[in-house]
Amino acid sequence: MTAKIIDGKAFAAQVREKVAAHVARLKEVQGVTPGLAVVLVGDDPASEVYVRNKGKQTLEVGMNSFEHKLPAETSEADLLALIERLNNDPAVHGILVQLPLPAHLNSDLVINSIAPGKDVDGFHISNVGLLGTGQKSMVPCTPLGCLMMLRDHHGSLSGLNAVVVGRSNIVGKPMAQLLLGDSCTVTIAHSRTKDLAAVCKGADILVAAVGRPEMIPGDWVKPGATVIDVGINRIERGGKKKLVGDVHFESAAAVAGAITPVPGGVGPMTIACLLANTVTACCRANGLREPEGLTA
Ligand code: GUN
Repeated sequence: MTAKIIDGKAFAAQVREKVAAHVARLKEVQGVTPGLAVVLVGDDPASEVYVRNKGKQTLEVGMNSFEHKLPAETSEADLLALIERLNNDPAVHGILVQLPLPAHLNSDLVINSIAPGKDVDGFHISNVGLLGTGQKSMVPCTPLGCLMMLRDHHGSLSGLNAVVVGRSNIVGKPMAQLLLGDSCTVTIAHSRTKDLAAVCKGADILVAAVGRPEMIPGDWVKPGATVIDVGINRIERGGKKKLVGDVHFESAAAVAGAITPVPGGVGPMTIACLLANTVTACCRANGLREPEGLTA
């Protein structure tokens, strides 16, 4: 079998189109322009690239983008004061603090100071609790993007065996909650799982989010399974720099029914879902109908 390639780049473009259409309607009918504030502390080059892309795509869908770049030595008090200002600014509907923060800043404290309704990353403890109890919340962008692609491919996910490899707060845990919400039978596996190969082989849906290059080979994949590869690992092979996922693509694609490539799979969906979350937050803040198909 050769797997269908799930084209995350094309899917993300569709999500952005939906977001842009909704933004246009909000502006025209309600006179409201959704706004996203991104806060970057320090000058980590990779974070700067992410933040620039976020700002560019925010403007492209017609939303307002507010970028706050602070020096690496910014005090916690100053950062908290900025977040407080953004919490109280009616033009700001979404707030994202780029992680990782410099070591002297307490990330949990900072994230939990964001107003939960503006927490478009879905990292605030209130949103984590709401998601875990099946209530309306802001949902972390990467797992939301994975869920959208899975729903698109399968229609209903009900009753399927889903295995999530990786237990991070950003991807693994919320991914498992979302799959449970769609009535999958969910296993969270990780580096200490016994016989990980056998666990993976039982999956109709296999989500890999461990951050280890090509850790999951094709013979861990059940024939016909859907493989979602969240990993983005930079490696060097034959003197060339290369991006690979957590799944060994060639061998897995020979067995799976469908698979996301790296790059061009899950990656592009993350920012698209950030834009979707910002529109959702804006609608909720204004008591307006939420866009369909852009939330969990
Ligand atoms: N750094 C890498 N990915 C993310 C993300 O999804 N959100 C935030 N806030 N920081 C990140």
